[in-house]
Formats: sequence, structure tokens, C-alpha cells
Amino acid sequence: MSTQTNKSVKRVTTHTLQAMKQSGEKITMLTAYDYSMAKIIDAAGIDVILVGDSASNVMAGHETTLPITLDQMIYHASSVIRGIKRCLVVADLPFGSYQGNSRKALESAIRIMKESGAHAVKLEGGRQIEESISRILSAGIPVMGHLGLIPQSIYQFGTYTVRAKEEAEADTLKQDAKLLQELGCFSIVLEKIPSELAREVSESLRIPTIGIGGGPFCDGQVLVTHDLLGITKEFNPRFLRRYMSLYDDIKSAVGDYIKDVKSLDFPNEKEKY
Ligand code: KIV
Repeated sequence: MSTQTNKSVKRVTTHTLQAMKQSGEKITMLTAYDYSMAKIIDAAGIDVILVGDSASNVMAGHETTLPITLDQMIYHASSVIRGIKRCLVVADLPFGSYQGNSRKALESAIRIMKESGAHAVKLEGGRQIEESISRILSAGIPVMGHLGLIPQSIYQFGTYTVRAKEEAEADTLKQDAKLLQELGCFSIVLEKIPSELAREVSESLRIPTIGIGGGPFCDGQVLVTHDLLGITKEFNPRFLRRYMSLYDDIKSAVGDYIKDVKSLDFPNEKEKY
């Protein structure tokens, strides 16, 4: 099922993603936090934009995703929504806005949906946040889950290395994935887990999985756009494929501009009124 906003644009919905899993077509997801980037990514034909709390790292320069606030996520998500015509927009609920209090979780999800216009929310975790997920779903808000390396729990993990390599953690992840599906989540992000585990989970679920460091057997893939474009030069995990080196290109363009202004080359005759 899909909704039509105007005659030419067929919007991506959670039902579209379900149909893609059934037909075997891979789902593409990328992050965006602002209007201009969202407009380009949507025009390129992406299926899903994630307004990730990775904005805390790549936009605000924090070491972790923990400091970003609900108000800041609403600002980013509403900017993204103004830039898109076709894709599904999922917004992360930030750290502290849903854990341990399902009423607060529902209030946070309602705020982000109402004030930004996002189409769905993403929450990190399994059984620990079962009540929060159920309550959000009961309000008719679509929920994407997130298992494996969940960066909001980084201080509990102590490291960003691959998760669920041991049988006990892998079993817990498999049970949590089933639980999220039974609760009614429409999709699950699997972050930094062994490829064979991601395959087993993806094959056992009816809902699509979207991997980041989860290998090729996930039903879709997600990357942080700033990593894919090579803006975040120092971040080099094995799972990342860079398609550009924008850090170097932008630095070089800015260097040229500085040179042109200092040498009085810019603005020239044609560039003045
Ligand atoms: O915040 C984010 O960008 C994410 C992706 C890494 C999945 O959660």
C-alpha cells in the first residue's frame, strides 16, 4: 500500500518496505539532518532517510550520541521533512527520551511526529524497552527497532567493537528480534554483528532488517551519509564504503577561494554590479 501526495510521486511507506522484503529487492537507507542534504538524497531515489542521533557526532561534534536532545532531533527532522518528496523519514528518539518510562516514551514519540512531520521513530534495544515500544505502537506510530551495537549504550559496552560474537549474546539478539517483530515493529536495524547471525535473523523474520556492519544478507543497508561522502575522514570501520572524498575536495575549494580573495582575483569584472 502506498499513499499519493501528488500525481507524479509514489511515496515510500512501511508497507513498501515490507513488499520489498517479500520481492527480494534491497532497501536503501541513509542519514540526513538538514533540508539541503535530504533534498539531494531523496532526489537520488533513496527509500528511507534516517534522521539519526548520529547528528550528535557529525553535526554537533560530540564524542557520543548521548548529548543530543529531543528538541534538537525535532529541529533536524523537520528540516529533513521540508526537503523530501518521496522517501520514508524515520527519526531517532534520543537517549533519555524513552528508556525506563513508557509514558515519557509515548510523549517523546508524539512530539517528534507532531512537531517534525516524521513518518516513524527508531528506538535502540530489545526486551528492556518492550513497554515503551508497545505504548508508542498503540498510538499508531510506526516503530523501527535497533539491535546489536546500540550506540546509546556505549558506556555499558565500553567499546564500539562487533557485538553478539558469543553464543549467549547472539541468542539474546535473536530472541529480541522476534520480540520486536511480535510487538509490531516494521523493521529492525542490525548494527555491527557477524554476517551469519544477521543472515539467520533476517531469514527468520517477516519484517525487513537493515544492516550497518551487518553484512550482505540483511534486507537493506544503511550508512551515515557523511561517512559515505568522505566528510568524516578519520572514521574508517571495515563496513564503510566511501564514494567520495569530500573532506579533501571541500578543503581544496575553500583554499582556492581564500587564494582568489587575497590575490584580488575574486570578485572580477563579471562578478560585480
Ligand atoms: O544514528 C544513526 O545514524 C544510526 C545509524 C547508524 C543506524 O542509528
